[in-house]
Order: sequence, then C-alpha cells, then structure tokens
Amino acid sequence: MSVVEEIKSRIDIVDLVGETVKLRKSGRNFIGFCPFHPNTRTPSFVVFPETQGWHCFGACSTGGDIFNFIMKREGWEFREALQYLAARAGVELHPPSPAEAARAETTGRLREALTAEATYYNHLLLQAPEAAHAREYVAKRGLHAETVERFQLGYALDSWDAARNYLTGKGFQVEELVEAGLLSQREDGSAAFDRFRGRLIIPIRDVQGQVIGFGARAFGDAQPKYLNSPQTPLFDKSATLFGLDLARRAIHEAGQAVIVEGYMDVMQAHQAGFANVVAQMGTALTEAQLRLLKRYTHRLILALDPDVAGASATLRGLDVARTTLDRDWQPVFDPRGLVRFEGRLQADIRVVRLPAGQDPDDLIRADPAAWAQLVQTAEPIVDYVIGALTAGQDLDDPKVKAEVARQVLPLIGEVADPVERGAYLQRLARMLRVEERNLLQNLRPAGPPRRSRAAAEAAVTPAPVTDTSPTRPAERVDAYCLAVLLRTPALIAAVDQAFRRAQLDLLAPDDFNLIEHREVFQALRAGATTPEALWDHLDPTLHPHLEKLWAEAPATIADDEKAARDALAAALRLRERRLRARLEELRFLQEDASAQNDREALREYHEMTQSISAMLLRLARVQYGRSGDRLGEADRLNRIETN
Ligand code: UTP
Ligand code: MN
Repeated sequence: MSVVEEIKSRIDIVDLVGETVKLRKSGRNFIGFCPFHPNTRTPSFVVFPETQGWHCFGACSTGGDIFNFIMKREGWEFREALQYLAARAGVELHPPSPAEAARAETTGRLREALTAEATYYNHLLLQAPEAAHAREYVAKRGLHAETVERFQLGYALDSWDAARNYLTGKGFQVEELVEAGLLSQREDGSAAFDRFRGRLIIPIRDVQGQVIGFGARAFGDAQPKYLNSPQTPLFDKSATLFGLDLARRAIHEAGQAVIVEGYMDVMQAHQAGFANVVAQMGTALTEAQLRLLKRYTHRLILALDPDVAGASATLRGLDVARTTLDRDWQPVFDPRGLVRFEGRLQADIRVVRLPAGQDPDDLIRADPAAWAQLVQTAEPIVDYVIGALTAGQDLDDPKVKAEVARQVLPLIGEVADPVERGAYLQRLARMLRVEERNLLQNLRPAGPPRRSRAAAEAAVTPAPVTDTSPTRPAERVDAYCLAVLLRTPALIAAVDQAFRRAQLDLLAPDDFNLIEHREVFQALRAGATTPEALWDHLDPTLHPHLEKLWAEAPATIADDEKAARDALAAALRLRERRLRARLEELRFLQEDASAQNDREALREYHEMTQSISAMLLRLARVQYGRSGDRLGEADRLNRIETN
C-alpha cells in the first residue's frame, strides 16, 4: 500500500467531512450543504462512504477524496494536506533519515530564533527610548498602532551586537544566528555582527504566518533603502510574497489578488481595508510566486511601479534582461514571460496603470476610493503592453508599424487560448491598419518546444518500483490516459482542441479519480512536461506513483496522427466515465429529493441530469462522428438515453 492509500484506509471520509459539514444520512450516502460556496436552498453536497468520495453538484461542481477535501477547505497544496492527514491517521510519512531529522531540527531552531528576534525588535519599537525617532517615522508614514501590531513591526538598535547578545543570551548559537540570516559574518569568519542596525524592521512570513526573514528600512537616505534577509534554508525571496499570510483569506473571498511592489504598499493597503494585497518585494515576479497565489485565485492584478512594469524604455527591450546596480535585486519584468505564465497557469493576469511617480502607498494614503477604482480598471496584460508600446507613436509611419508588430507579435504568440490569440491579432491589425494575414505570417504559434522524446525518456533512470499494488480496474482508464499524455505531453493541446470544438470543458485534474493522478496531470498542465521537471514538481511521496505510471505507459506510437487519436480516445473515455458517474450520483440525489418531497431540488437535479446527458451526446459525436459509423452512433446515443 502506498502512503496515500494507507492514509485513506485509516480516515473515514464521513468523519472528516462531518467535522465541517452537517450531514444527513440518506440511503447509503450522506447529504449536506456545500461548505465551499454560499448556501443555496438545495443541499448539493454528497459524501459517498462506499467510494470514500465527495461531490458538490452546486456552484463548485467538483469533488474528490479526503485529500481534495482538505486541500479545498484549507487552501492547501497536496504536500500540506498530506502532512495534516498523515499526522491525523498516525501514518509516518517515510521515516526521516538521520540527515533529514537533523535538518528538520536545524530549521526548527532557525524558526525559533527568527520568532524570538521578531518579538525582540517589536518590543524595542514599542518601548525603547532609543526608538523614539522610529516611532515618529512610523507615525509620519501614516501607519496606525493596529498595523504595527498586525505586521509586528520592530526596531533594530543602532548597535553591532545588541541582537546577537540578546539571542545568544537566550541560548542560540552564533552559527545558528548566522544561518538564520540574523548575523552577518566577515569573509574570514572571524566575527559575526548584527545584520540589521538602526532600521525599521518588517518581519516577512510564510503562508502559515511563521517568520522566515526580515526587511529593514533605513531612516533617511542611508543605502540600501531596504536591507533584506539573505537567502537562508527558510527564506527564499523569489518564492515568497510579503503579506500573503494575512491576505490569503481576503484573496479567496475577493476572487482576486493584487500584487504590489513593496512592504509599505501592502501595509497601507491592509490598513485601508484592502486585505487582498501582497508584495513581491521588488524582485522580478517569479513563477513560484504566481503559483503560490494561484492556490487562492486565478485572477492576479499587478499594480507595479510603472517604470518597472510598463514604461516604454523597459518594453522596448522586451527580450533584453535588465539589471540595475544600486539595488540588491534585478527588476526584470518580462511581459512575455507573464503572458506565458498566464497560459500555463490558466490564470488571468491584469495590470493596473499607476499614475506616474506614485506607488500604491501614496495613492491609498491620498484617496482610498481612488485606489479601489484604479484596481477595477486593470486591463489584460496583452492589452496593457500593446497600449504602452503604441502610446505616443505615429502609427501611420510604416517603420513604426513594423517595429510595433515586431515587438507585439511574440507576445500574442504566447497567448495560450487560440480564440483569445485571434482576437488580439485582429485588434493589432486594426490598430496598425494592416492586413491580418500579413501579421499572421510572423506569428509563431505558442506551444511546447519540440524536444527529443528519446532524450527525455532516457533522462529518467528507471528506479526500482517500490509500489507494486496492482492497478484497480476503475483506475485503468485514468492510468492509461495519463500515461499516454505523460509520454507525449504535446498531445494535451490536441486533446484540448477537440474538447473545445465539442464544447466540452477541457480535460482537468477533476477528470481523474485518484489524487495521485490529479497531481500528475496538474503538473503536466503547469508545464512540467519533461521527466525531470515532473520529478521536481511532484511531492516525493508521489514519486513511486510516477514511476509506476512510466513503467505501465504504453509504448510510444511513432505515427503522430495515430498517437493523437489514441490520446483523444483515452481522454474521451475518461470524461465519459466521469459524466456517467455524475449521472449515477444524481439519480441518487433525485431519489432522495423525491423521498423528501423537495420539488425545487428535483427540478434542479433534473436540469443537471439533462445538461450532463447533453454533454455525453456531444462527447459521443466526437467518439463516433468521424468514423461515419451511424449505427454505432445511434446505438450509443440510445444507450446514453436509456442509461
Ligand atoms: P521601493 O523603493 O518602491 O520602496 O521598493 P517603497 O515600498 O515605496 O518604500 P518607501 O515607500 O520608500 O519606504 C519597492 C520594494 O522593493 C524592495 C522592497 O521590498 C521595497 O518594498 N527593495 C527596495 C529592496 O529590497 N531593496 C531596496 O534597496 C529597495
Ligand atoms: Mn513608497
């Protein structure tokens, strides 16, 4: 049994869900109101003890097992749900090796040191006579006492060893404090001294709210303006968003996240009641950061300094990496990269046009309502870039036309959705007053770069397969479909196209039954298409599963067209199975509603049944349409209707 299976065998879904949802037994199943969307009148949330699954037939129209439930309830990723459920089930997640145990011990110590340090700085800011000017500064920046408390702001004494003495006095070793980034060390390692001296301290926390580092602002013009913790085992600036611990709930509720440049912007926004705001801390926006946000919402709004995000100087060199010398980071904002992320992450990225020379901090302090208004007017990233590139240009000049096209086309080429891509192309053609087909010639379609399949396969060293439990029949379709796509990820695009044509929702993690499969498919969708990338992307607990999939994967089909047909057939079968399962469950709900004499519910379930049947019909048309096998199709439709 794999770890995941072991955990599932020990936790009953009815107990787990029953903790948050009031369930009523009906026949063999349990019914309740969905905890994930506002209450409707009709109970739409069902728990199935036999399959240990759940499904919401209402607004969520999603479901899964205990893992999905916890992930959705807490906004967690697989790893976090795994840890939580394993602890709850009393399953040890692979016994830690001595080295791992030691590492966990160390990071635990580092966490303690950081937490103690944050408290220490905070006390100083609130009480120390030496911090009077710091308190004045805080007041001058318009930060209230509650904000100081909420963000636990602090003050570092202007001393080389005050923090060092305080923490060593609490039993921490100098080496630990160096590793935590609290002390700096001379090159020769001879002395370690306080990194932060005479600055306003801003603790940086992870999603769980644990301190992982600090940002420290100078008073006055001292350089650098902000001194940050260095990279440590706990702190990776490029994978962290400042304020996310306080913002995640609001992001989820607002259905969008606003990304700003800096600490002050976040604190000012939260203080004014805009709690869905986080900061990238001045670095280039990274995929890791976007991915972090994608857990809570798919709509991301960038409110970054115009000189970084949009000014024509930056955009003129879209493909040139930019660096600045006076800061400890590189403001590389690459719109093309962002459009690519947007497609890969299935996100919706928009940009706010900030008035020149003003950051959100200034704006919010001046007029909170105007800020809210501004956020509302955020435009899609591609529109934004086109606008910035063409602003003030003479679009009648053929040379300018050519130059704008040269810059914008690669961007449009990155748009993942073909319909959207076509619309942008049209818009650009209209704007430049040129023929669309002239532009088309220069547009290279987006898509995964071609790579040698043999090389990719060879890269995975077949490790011993540790998980030998046989695949259960119900999961065969899942495993087969996934394995086909794993072999040739480029086929996902072909499958998507066929699904779109048939007006079916694109193949999604939800189509797979097992959480393990869902995670793998999601990784593929997120662009982890090489074996190495998949390996890195997936939690180590899932590695045996990935190996098993690889081992069971059908041989690569040399004929491209045949491979595409094979993948599509598998995907369709998968979807068909999912829709049939839904129908089955709906029938149960209908019976229940009849028994309860709930007419409204009956009507709703009936409508759902019809819409699913319609999907099955469209699906059958793709399955049988091209073969011209009328009899087969008719037979099939008949079966669907009588089912
Ligand atoms: P800004 O210079 O725009 O800072 O840098 P700000 O937030 O407006 O700061 P105030 O209003 O002058 O106090 C934006 C962000 O870039 C990072 C910080 O995270 C900052 O909040 N930054 C800036 C650094 O890391 N180092 C620096 O030297 C400057
Ligand atoms: Mn500022």
